[in-house]
Amino acid sequence: ALPTHVTLVDVGPRDGLQNEKQPVSTAHKAQLVALLQEAGLKEIEVTSFVSPKWVPQMADNADVMAAIARRPGVRYSVLTPNMKGFEAALPTQPDEIVVFAAASEAFSQKNINCSIAESIERFAPVVAAAHEAGIKVRGALSCALGCPYQGEVSADEVERVVQLMKSIGVDHMGVADTIGVGTPRKVQAAMERALKHYPLVEVSGHFHDTYGQALSNIYACLELGVHTFDASVAGLGGCPYAKGATGNVATEDVVFMLNGLGIDTGIDLDRLVDAGAFISGVLERAPVSRVARAILAK
Ligand code: HMG
Ligand code: MG
Repeated sequence: ALPTHVTLVDVGPRDGLQNEKQPVSTAHKAQLVALLQEAGLKEIEVTSFVSPKWVPQMADNADVMAAIARRPGVRYSVLTPNMKGFEAALPTQPDEIVVFAAASEAFSQKNINCSIAESIERFAPVVAAAHEAGIKVRGALSCALGCPYQGEVSADEVERVVQLMKSIGVDHMGVADTIGVGTPRKVQAAMERALKHYPLVEVSGHFHDTYGQALSNIYACLELGVHTFDASVAGLGGCPYAKGATGNVATEDVVFMLNGLGIDTGIDLDRLVDAGAFISGVLERAPVSRVARAILAK
C-alpha cells in the first residue's frame, strides 16, 4: 500500500530563486514564504549561507530569515556548506540545516570546490555544532541519478556517500536528481541504498524535472514507502552548476497527483497555485507547473 500521508518540503525560495537571473527582493522572498505557509506547507527551505560571490541571489540570506513571519509548526531550513555558513546561519535560528554532498567527484568540485572526502571533512564540524545547538541536519546527495560532468552514476557510488554522511551524524538523507535524468527503477535502486542506512522517515527525494520524469519517480518512491519529497512552487529553479538543469518538480503538480491518489499533504492546492502565481508574477513569466497553468486558465 502507498503511504497515506506525504510531507512536502518547498525548496522554491532557495533552490528556485538561487538560479534566477533577475534579482528578487528580500521582501518578495519573505512574501513567498508567507504564501507557502498559508497554503499549508510545514517545511520550507528558505535560503542558503553560501558564498555571495558564487551565488549572489542568496546574498540576503540573513535578511530573508529576519523578514519571514514564522508560524508555529512550520520548519524553516537553510543550506550551510561549511562552518562559515553555519556560523552565519546560527543567529538566524533555522530549524534545520542542510549539508550538500555529491555522488560524483566532478560535481563536488564544481558545486562546492572540493572533493567528496574534503566535503565530508568540512561537514563534520557543522553537523556537530548543529547538534550541539539542537538543530537537525539534513543531507542532500546531488547527482545520485546522473552527473552533468561524469555521466552515469551507480548505486554503489550513491551508497558510498550515503555511508559517509551517516558516519558524521547527518540525520536525514535527501537523494537528489540534480539534472532530472532518473527513471523510476533507477530511482528505486538509489533509494534502496539510502534506505539501507536510514529509516523511511529520514529519506526523501529531490527531483528536478528536466526530462519530465519527476512525477513518475515520486510515484516509484511511494511504492517503496518513501513519504517525504522536496518540490518547488511553480517549478522554480535549477542549479547554477548544472547547465540546462530546470527547476524542481512543481509542488502544485505533486499535490495534484497525491490528491488524486487520496494521499494527504495538508496543502490547499488553490492557495498553493496563488503562491506560485505571485512569484511567477514577480519573475514576469507563467508558472512552469502544468497544474497551475491549467487551474489559472479556468
Ligand atoms: P571556497 O571558495 O572553496 O571557500 O568556497 P573558501 O573557504 O576557500 O573561501 C573563499 C571565500 O569564500 C572567502 O572569502 C570565504 O570567506 C568565502 P574571501 O576571503 O575570498 O573574501 N566563504 C563564504 N562566504 C559566505 N558564506 C560561506 C562561505 N564559505 C566561504 N558559507 C563554498 C566554498 C562552498 C562556500 C563555495 O563553493 C560556494 O558557495 N558554492 C556554492 C554552492 C551552492 O550554493 N550551490 C547551489 C546549492 S546546492 C544545490 O542546488 C543542489 C541541491 O538542490 C540538491 C540537488 O538538486 O542536487 C541541494
Ligand atoms: Mg536541487
